[in-house]
Amino acid sequence: MTKKLLIQRYKKSERFNHWVVAGCFVLLAVSGLGFFYPSFFWLTEVFGSPQLARILHPFIGVIMFLGFFIQFFRYVKHNFFERDDIKWMLGIKHILLGKEIGDTGKYNAGQKCMFWLMTISMALLFISGLIAWRQFFSGYFPIWVVRIALLVHSASAILLIVGIIIHVYAALWIKGTIPAMVEGVVTQEWAKKHHPRWYREMMAKKAAKAQQTSTTQSSE
Ligand code: HEM
Repeated sequence: MTKKLLIQRYKKSERFNHWVVAGCFVLLAVSGLGFFYPSFFWLTEVFGSPQLARILHPFIGVIMFLGFFIQFFRYVKHNFFERDDIKWMLGIKHILLGKEIGDTGKYNAGQKCMFWLMTISMALLFISGLIAWRQFFSGYFPIWVVRIALLVHSASAILLIVGIIIHVYAALWIKGTIPAMVEGVVTQEWAKKHHPRWYREMMAKKAAKAQQTSTTQSSE
């Protein structure tokens, strides 16, 4: 791949932020499933012992929530639904066969749905997790509230786990997507095919920058 054919999609700080959230998610999903179902209890060993898992799970949950909070504000402006998203959703059958539909910006309608699913489940997990956190907060709530919180916590965790399985599958399925979050770049070909409006915006920015540089150099 030659350098001029690449476009930057994520900065280093964004990638670091993403992988911290992803790492926390894996630890939380594994230990959480260990608490949820007796046959999965052995999974609590992910932290060395079930006791440690019980202590660390909520703290890692807070780190994941804070990490996602930053991601939310980074990406929310690209995740509002637009007219072309309806076209994309109605053409999902063709999209699954590899055809692209609509003038997609930085994210397609599927990614936008996933973003909002992540946002809702993260908010529910955080609020219900705090209420159920025996060491600090659950003493302030009546038992029925704690029970409802635990139900909401389990349901939203399952929702997020299913969502992340789809998120990872989609990232692996669309060739050229993983380097976006690992190296920070995608090929121009990838951008033009999957996110044509974003591609045009990036190329216009690049052209404006190049023009500005040449104007500055010629005036010196
Ligand atoms: C565990 C394995 C994961 C892998 C392999 C993965 C992979 C990726 C890739 C390749 C992208 C770039 C997609 C693009 O730019 O088109 C991305 C974006 C993103 N990922 Fe992940 N991810 C993982 C876990 C997570 C988790 C646990 C979360 C949060 C709950 C998350 C949240 C996001 C967000 C918010 C974006 C920005 C795109 C958007 O707004 O839709 N990811 N991920």
